[in-house]
Amino acid sequence: MLLQIPDVLTTGQAAACRQKIESAEWIDGRVTAGHQSARKKHNLQLAENHPLAEKLGEIILGALEHNSLFMSAALPLHVFPPLFNRYEGGHSFGNHIDNAIRQVAGTPFRVRTDLSATLFLTPPENYDGGELVIEDTFGIHNVKLPAGHLILYPATSLHNVRPVTNGARISSFFWVQSMVRDDGMRTILFDMDMAIQRIAQNEPDHPSVIQLTGVYHNLLRRWAEV
Ligand code: NI
Repeated sequence: MLLQIPDVLTTGQAAACRQKIESAEWIDGRVTAGHQSARKKHNLQLAENHPLAEKLGEIILGALEHNSLFMSAALPLHVFPPLFNRYEGGHSFGNHIDNAIRQVAGTPFRVRTDLSATLFLTPPENYDGGELVIEDTFGIHNVKLPAGHLILYPATSLHNVRPVTNGARISSFFWVQSMVRDDGMRTILFDMDMAIQRIAQNEPDHPSVIQLTGVYHNLLRRWAEV
């Protein structure tokens, strides 16, 4: 499932994040790339242990915790501390699939990457190109979202970032280990949760609301690893 999650940060919060990191010390993005993807990766990143990355990452994680759409779609068990990248002057990232397991720098902690996420921090009108291109069974999707909006997609997807030919594109990116590893099962639970919420709003006293909520939790109990 490919899902856009609007307004994870407000436009003001996204601008504040961007302004803080714009003048930070950026390093070659290949530091976090696997052997294969390093050959196709041309961008800049904030170092994983950069204090600013840690501080802004906490703001993003805090916002995600209160985002019901993200929580329902991702069913997160662990979220990798957000990283930050910057594409400018023709930077691009060729087709690749993200590494399955990521170690959190300086810790023994590992995250299985079930979902990949990109949080756009730069308004789309500020740069040319820079689309995140994601391939799934329904075809090819070009994603370029307003500042503060997030795209969530299965980490099993082949994807690339088109060259940024003008301006600069700053984003945050991270991975989620979900309580439900399988994308198909996770999608069923998400669809069901959305449907239950709609019924609960229109017909709050309908007995099916309790029954369907029970079914949701009984499926989650079968499928979740915590
Ligand atoms: Ni990637």
